[in-house]
Amino acid sequence: MNTNPYKHYFPIFTKHPDLVYLDSSASSLKPQVVLDKMNEYYTEYGVNIHRGVYSLSYQATEAYEAARGNIASFIGAKAHEVVFTGNATESLNMIATMLGRNLTSKDAVLTTQLEHHSSLLPWQRMIHEKGIRLDYVPLTASGRITVENVKSAITSETKILAITYVSNVLGYITPLKEIIQFAHEHNILVVVDAAQAIAHLPIDVKDLDCDFLAFSGHKMFGPTGVGVLYGKESLLKTCSPVEVGGDMNDDVDLYEMVVRPIPYRFEAGTPMIAEVLGLSQAVDFIRSITYPAIMAHEKELLTYLHDKLKGIPHLTIYNSTADIAILSFNFNGIHPHDAATLFDTRHIALRAGYHCSQLVARFFHCYGSLRASFHIYNTKDDIDQLICAIKETLEFFKSYLED
Ligand SMILES: Cc1ncc(COP(=O)(O)O)c(C=O)c1O
Repeated sequence: MNTNPYKHYFPIFTKHPDLVYLDSSASSLKPQVVLDKMNEYYTEYGVNIHRGVYSLSYQATEAYEAARGNIASFIGAKAHEVVFTGNATESLNMIATMLGRNLTSKDAVLTTQLEHHSSLLPWQRMIHEKGIRLDYVPLTASGRITVENVKSAITSETKILAITYVSNVLGYITPLKEIIQFAHEHNILVVVDAAQAIAHLPIDVKDLDCDFLAFSGHKMFGPTGVGVLYGKESLLKTCSPVEVGGDMNDDVDLYEMVVRPIPYRFEAGTPMIAEVLGLSQAVDFIRSITYPAIMAHEKELLTYLHDKLKGIPHLTIYNSTADIAILSFNFNGIHPHDAATLFDTRHIALRAGYHCSQLVARFFHCYGSLRASFHIYNTKDDIDQLICAIKETLEFFKSYLED
């Protein structure tokens, strides 16, 4: 019997009633209200924004800008501090490119081994392009970022700290507020990757005092194809856009242009209108469910999961103290891709490999891991099925297992 009070919001389970979806860290499922909102735009006022001098275009523009205001207030920002992008990756590349213009070979960027490649690689590229030094915060033995370790890694050359709020492999929450405060005392700008965090925790950018923060819509019940770059107003105003084109300028002559105010100067071309509206609806959906309810549900699942895992041999669990509901594990002696094969036949969707965070696997000296990640639609029955599949996998590979 399904006693989960949230599952019915997600139409995918009507089509796939047996689905055990354990890949929410890659992308969450979408509630019907988000799909309806996008459909409403396309069927009722699906025209371009900011350009048309007719009622439908005004209606679409108003809906788009209202969505910006709604998403901004959700993270405690002002509307013009929210730039819409295609995803967190684009947001993080955009801010690295803009800030990177001012970096020189005398500068260092501090980051961590927990970063997703989209938070790491835009800065790594600057080693070669700008001659910067890339420094890493030492992690604890279990792979956590601590305030003390960040403090110890800051040098007089550190100009930027690029850091994840929640690890997509280990589910650890970074103690960001104290880290940001310390970074600011040393005139370091802080760029936060909140792609995982936003799906699980309330975020208030003013309270955190981060300088820039990025996330995607699709991990927080919204559609694919939309992301956000938040930037402090005073800082965004000093940035010039990466992309140029339509709708981002106020005046163009033969050799110059005048860029529009923030955030429009960063949104060249026709934006993803339906997706922005869908994301705004996803924000309302989270408000209605509430973050405390999401966190309580995850905690209950996580406790149940770890209880069920007790005593199962031949497993390495990398994050038994995870703060959000993610399990990263391996069958000892079995490559995660080989181990993953059985799960799909049991309708269990989980992920195997590096999870776009290869430095985490390097840290643990493994070839990646299996990752089961949970959200509000998951049930204890899903966990029972996962445990059953783990036991079947152990049986299947029994002659290859190591201790
Ligand atoms: C922590 C983290 N940062 C960034 C990203 C990149 O998000 P996207 O692929 O939506 O750009 C992800 C996606 O898995 C992530 O988990």
